[in-house]
Amino acid sequence: MHYDAIENHHRLKHDPFKALVAPRPIGWISSLSPDGVFNLAPYSFFNAVSDKPHYVMFASSGRKDSIDNVEATGEFTCSLSTWDTRNGMNTSSATVPADADEFQLSGLETSPSNFVAPPRVKAAPAALECKFWKTVQMPDVEPGSDCGHFVVFGQVVGIYIDDTYIKDGMVNTGAMRPIARMGYMDYTVVNSDTVFTLNRPVVADDGTVAIPSAEKWDGTYR
Ligand SMILES: Cc1cc2nc3c(=O)[nH]c(=O)nc-3n(C[C@H](O)[C@H](O)[C@H](O)COP(=O)(O)O)c2cc1C
Repeated sequence: MHYDAIENHHRLKHDPFKALVAPRPIGWISSLSPDGVFNLAPYSFFNAVSDKPHYVMFASSGRKDSIDNVEATGEFTCSLSTWDTRNGMNTSSATVPADADEFQLSGLETSPSNFVAPPRVKAAPAALECKFWKTVQMPDVEPGSDCGHFVVFGQVVGIYIDDTYIKDGMVNTGAMRPIARMGYMDYTVVNSDTVFTLNRPVVADDGTVAIPSAEKWDGTYR
């Protein structure tokens, strides 16, 4: 099939868009309300968008508590969702009133952050501590509408990594078993067996392109 995506003429049971942009990392966003209520929610419209400095984004479909809190208080954290915490992550997505604490609701303990006020999920093997930069409202939405899509950008000012997962100066992401969202209600999990390495091509002065051995990282971070 090959269809007009603006009119969305897919003729399938459900819009396949999110099944195709997959897997998407899950930013498990914690924030504080202006009154100090803890808030936690997963966002799979989430990603890193720049390396130096480190920036991340999450996108809210409509105005939700996370974006309201982040804009009001200027801070948030992104905990890494993993296989071990998948049920807590899912529970924390429940649509509950703004004064509900989803850490409590999900039976999850908090750990204090070092650089921002919102705590992280204690059971998460890694977390990013972020300062709000700006919100970008996506086009094709009535001005002032609460129904649009809002992309929230934040600078990562602190990073927590459970030392258990650091070996020989490298983070063992596979051992953390991060989960990621696919389409529909489907997820996938990364583990050490599904991680593979590809070295970037090396271009010689004469323009020839060589691929260093794919067996193992050659040690150059290109
Ligand atoms: C894995 C997963 C990913 C989600 N991704 C998003 C997302 O990218 N954007 C969004 O608006 N809602 C997303 N949701 C739904 C929110 O988590 C849900 O609406 C939640 O209640 C929002 O909480 P808040 O109002 O405390 O921010 C996702 C839910 C799950 C389970």
